[in-house]
Amino acid sequence: MRTPMIAGNWKLHKTLQEATSLASDLRSAVADNRAVEIVVAPVYTALSKVAEAVAGSNIKLAAQNCYPEAQGAFTGEVSPALLKDVGCQYVIIGHSERRQLFSETDEFINSKARALAEAGLGTIFCIGETLEERETDRMFDVLRRQVRCGLKNITAGQMGRVVVAYEPVWAIGTGKTASDEQAQEAHAFIRALLTELYDEQVAGATRILYGGSVKPGNIDGLMTQPDVDGALVGGASLNAEDFARIANFQNVG
Ligand code: 13P
Repeated sequence: MRTPMIAGNWKLHKTLQEATSLASDLRSAVADNRAVEIVVAPVYTALSKVAEAVAGSNIKLAAQNCYPEAQGAFTGEVSPALLKDVGCQYVIIGHSERRQLFSETDEFINSKARALAEAGLGTIFCIGETLEERETDRMFDVLRRQVRCGLKNITAGQMGRVVVAYEPVWAIGTGKTASDEQAQEAHAFIRALLTELYDEQVAGATRILYGGSVKPGNIDGLMTQPDVDGALVGGASLNAEDFARIANFQNVG
C-alpha cells in the first residue's frame, strides 16, 4: 500500500555537465522501474538542467534545502515556491548535516516543513540519532523530539506529502550501515509515534525511508523489513549503475 521511494541526495557534488550526464544515464538505467518512486536531489545550481534531463521520465526532482519565507531580503536563500517553479516535487529538510554543520534547530526545520506544506511541495523530513545518543540510551527520546517538533502544526491532510527519512548519524558516509533489525526497530518506533501524533491511517500511509551507507549490497535486506519503505542514498547515488541497482532492489513489486 506504500509505494517504495528511493531518493538520491547528491549533496555538494557534480558540475552541471556531470549532473546532467548522471541524470541521463540514470534515466535509461531505471526506465523500466515503475514500481518505485525514484527521486534525485542535485545542488541548487543544477536543478534546472537536471529537470530538463529527467522531463517525461519516472525520475522526480528534489532540492536539498529551502528557506521558509516566500520572498524578501534573505540574501542567499531559496523559497519553496521557487523550487516548485524549477520543477521540484520534493524538498529535503532536517538533514543531519544541516543540523550539525549549520546549527539548524527543530523549530527552524519545523518552519520549513510548514512552508513546504503550504506550498504543496513534498517533504523528505530527516531525523536520526548520533552514536553518542544511541550509546547513552537517548535514541528514542531524540527521535521523539525531532518528530514532535519537526512536524508541529502539520495537519493529517498535509502528512500525505511528507516522507520521513531515518538516518542514524553514525551510519552516514561511514560505510557502517544499520543492520536490517536496527533499521526496522527505529522505523517501527517512528511509525508508532505517528500513530500517537495522528492516527493509524496517517501512520500506515506515511513512508519511512532508511538512510546511511545504503549500497547495492545491502538494499535488498533492508527492503525486506516491514517498516522500511525505501532509502535516502548519499554516496552510492552519485553512480548511475549503483543507484539504479538500489532503485531496482530485488523484491520490487
Ligand atoms: P551515505 O549514503 O553517503 O551514507 O549518505 C546518506 C545520506 O546522508 C543521505 O541523505
